[in-house]
Amino acid sequence: MRVVCLPGDGIGPEVMQAAREVLAVLVPDLELEEHSFGGRAILETGTPLPDETLAACREADAVLLGAVGLPQLDAADVRPEQGLIALRRELDVYANLRPARGRGVDLLVVRELVGGLYYGAKGTREDGTVFDTCEYHPRQVERIARRAFELARGRAGRLASVDKANVLETSRMWRRVVSELGASYADVELEHVLVDNAAMQLVQAPERFDVIVTENTFGDILSDEAAAVTGGLGLAASASLGDGGPGIFEPVHGSAPDIAGQGTANPAAMLRSAALMLEHGLDRPEPARLLDAAVDDALARVATPDLGGTGTTAEVTAAVLGALRR
Ligand code: NAD
Ligand code: IPM
Ligand code: MN
Repeated sequence: MRVVCLPGDGIGPEVMQAAREVLAVLVPDLELEEHSFGGRAILETGTPLPDETLAACREADAVLLGAVGLPQLDAADVRPEQGLIALRRELDVYANLRPARGRGVDLLVVRELVGGLYYGAKGTREDGTVFDTCEYHPRQVERIARRAFELARGRAGRLASVDKANVLETSRMWRRVVSELGASYADVELEHVLVDNAAMQLVQAPERFDVIVTENTFGDILSDEAAAVTGGLGLAASASLGDGGPGIFEPVHGSAPDIAGQGTANPAAMLRSAALMLEHGLDRPEPARLLDAAVDDALARVATPDLGGTGTTAEVTAAVLGALRR
């Protein structure tokens, strides 16, 4: 099994180092190779997703990603985030699973990842108006909804489809397609929730949710919210899956320039993403379970500053390795 590691920028390489150390012990037969991506790749080669990196990702069994984003490139024409958007589309990883558990909450955000505002027509009109367009084809909605129903079936059997059907055409179609598909999943309890209400309920009563399925932009925002109510971005992992082909496994958080270089980033989100990779990307459920348990064990012993402690990335990593040895 071959994994392409894309450390990226900011705390990306710091948490990737933690993942590599842990994977080397947990799954010694795993081949890990590193490639240039994001801001670092722009500075080195002029593009955030060099051809050789994309080719390596296509041929890998899975892609493990740190985070991208460099403040110095925020206003540039070529930006690190464009590499991530392009990689997701190239690998057609349309189903982004973002589990959030902790503090009595156990929910899963299923975010559509290769459509909507991120990929629709965009540009500037002659009069100076700037536009991004939210576009969805019913087939794109059907395939993500099917994933979400299947996932709900394997959990508590409740699915909340989040949209803005009181205003948006894409949402009205989304709701229709999800409802129609719901007829073949009679065992799953389906509800439709408007996104503003969903955002409020995620803060007020997150325990009411089991699986949430939603479009790209809503899912981006709601998954940070779900992370916040379950312990923060330092803990939140994700899996981006297509239909066959390599998945991308990455924390929900970004490059965190405010703490980069300090050695205090919480590696738990990255390590939990590595566990998702073992489970969903490499079909190795047993080491995935061991890794998740080791991360929980380590978090009970060492806390990084985001969790109110004074622990370092290296100390959490050592605690995870200690738990694995036990
Ligand atoms: P961010 O997620 O990087 O950080 C938000 C806050 O959470 C910061 O205060 C940060 O210190 C904290 N935080 C995040 N991860 C942490 C961790 N592992 N341990 C401890 N604290 C952590 O979001 P941002 O600041 O809005 O964005 C910074 C850059 O990251 C931007 O360039 C953005 O585009 C990029 N970004 C990339 C990804 C990705 O690569 N998948 C995701 C989100 C944001
Ligand atoms: C995420 C990030 C990305 C997104 C950015 C960096 C393009 O915020 O993975 O949540 O919006 O999808
Ligand atoms: Mn995000």
